[in-house]
Amino acid sequence: MTVLLLGTTTTSHGAAAPPYGYGNNNIINVIKFGAKADGKTDSTEQFKMAWKSACTSIRPATIYVPKGRYLLKYTNFRGPCKNNKVTFIINGTLVAPYDYNELGNSGGFWILFNHVDNLTVIGGNLDAQGSAFWDCRRSGKNCPLGARSMTFNWVNNLVISGITSINSQLSHIVINTCNNVIVKNVRIIAPDQSPNTDGIHVEHSKWVNITGTTIQTGDDCISIGDATFNLFMDQIKCGPGHGIRNAIFYGSDNGMRIKSWARASKGFVRNILFQDITIFNVQNPIIIDQNYCPNNQGCPGQTSGIEISEVTYKNIHGSSATSEAVTFDCSASNPCQGIKLHDINLTYNNKAATSSCNNIRGTTSGTLVLQSCL
Ligand SMILES: *[C@@H]1O[C@H](CO)[C@@H](O)[C@H](O)[C@H]1NC(C)=O
Ligand SMILES: *[C@@H]1O[C@H](CO)[C@@H](O)[C@H](O)[C@H]1NC(C)=O
Ligand SMILES: *[C@@H]1O[C@H](CO)[C@@H](O)[C@H](O)[C@H]1NC(C)=O
Ligand SMILES: *[C@@H]1O[C@H](CO)[C@@H](O)[C@H](O)[C@H]1NC(C)=O
Repeated sequence: MTVLLLGTTTTSHGAAAPPYGYGNNNIINVIKFGAKADGKTDSTEQFKMAWKSACTSIRPATIYVPKGRYLLKYTNFRGPCKNNKVTFIINGTLVAPYDYNELGNSGGFWILFNHVDNLTVIGGNLDAQGSAFWDCRRSGKNCPLGARSMTFNWVNNLVISGITSINSQLSHIVINTCNNVIVKNVRIIAPDQSPNTDGIHVEHSKWVNITGTTIQTGDDCISIGDATFNLFMDQIKCGPGHGIRNAIFYGSDNGMRIKSWARASKGFVRNILFQDITIFNVQNPIIIDQNYCPNNQGCPGQTSGIEISEVTYKNIHGSSATSEAVTFDCSASNPCQGIKLHDINLTYNNKAATSSCNNIRGTTSGTLVLQSCL
């Protein structure tokens, strides 16, 4: 089991899972609006009409997408709605246009939910058909910006459950400026070699609970952006991928990683608990990198303004793929403080792995199988 708590750890999550919408009979079937389940006929306008009908209904409404493949272009499901609850049940597959320019030039989004409170999205598959887009990116050609598969902006009380997202052009699921979010039983699949396809990206959001989720992708499994509070993750399987930026791990590049640009800025990363984490053959199981400056561009010679404090690593065990399992490379101007290692067993070639410390204050306790620099 893997757990990560960001922010306060004492208060419990406030969001109750709303019922799944089968309970009300205000069901709006996209087929009734003429959507075609053949995977070829553009059903975008039909989905928009179904959304309008659901969103303008004064009763709680459920949009239902039956089995089959539905070709969908960029769609903005916009609120606020006239009712107090919208449920979106996808029992089929939403498929993006084959030509990647179509989504790639759509302003960054494929399926976008905007300003909709009390929203539940259940089930189904999203297939963004991203591979030709990644080929373009890898070739160094001039490519469109790309699109995230499913984005939620300004959604309070959100449940995302049972979705499988494959081959997103960019991040699969983005949670931006949302409060009280439950993400559960979600599967995310993209090849190891898909650039910039984060699994789930969270930013400017509070009380986000991600559980029971499997992520295989080319970039970060879960990435945590600015102004994120009270993020809870449990039972996440990650790999291949770049780990969970700020946590887990089968042969991933990083494990519990916190990184910040090596340049002036204001901000903090505080009260993080990484607990009960098993790693297998990970390159950097524990890493704080405050000297992040790819290609030495935009920051050479500078130090990070981000203050990192009260980060606890508790009951972390497994095997490192490199001799140095723990790297703490903190900012010279803002040293890391209150870093705690408790019950750590990290081995390399069956021996205690090593660690390195730069600009850090912290303590160790419990049983340590690690050559600790703290
Ligand atoms: C997160 O959600 C899971 C199930 O969806 C629940 O068991 C768990 O208690 C929740 N955690 C928090 C901190 O709310
Ligand atoms: C969302 O649901 C809560 C609880 O059922 C309700 O109090 C609130 O008014 C709803 N929000 C909207 C925008 O309808
Ligand atoms: C969704 O599809 C599954 C079969 O794939 C079926 O068992 C289930 O009843 C469907 N759900 C609804 C609400 O029709
Ligand atoms: C550390 O982990 C190794 C296997 O990964 C195990 O054999 C060893 O007993 C553990 N040591 C302690 C002190 O738990």
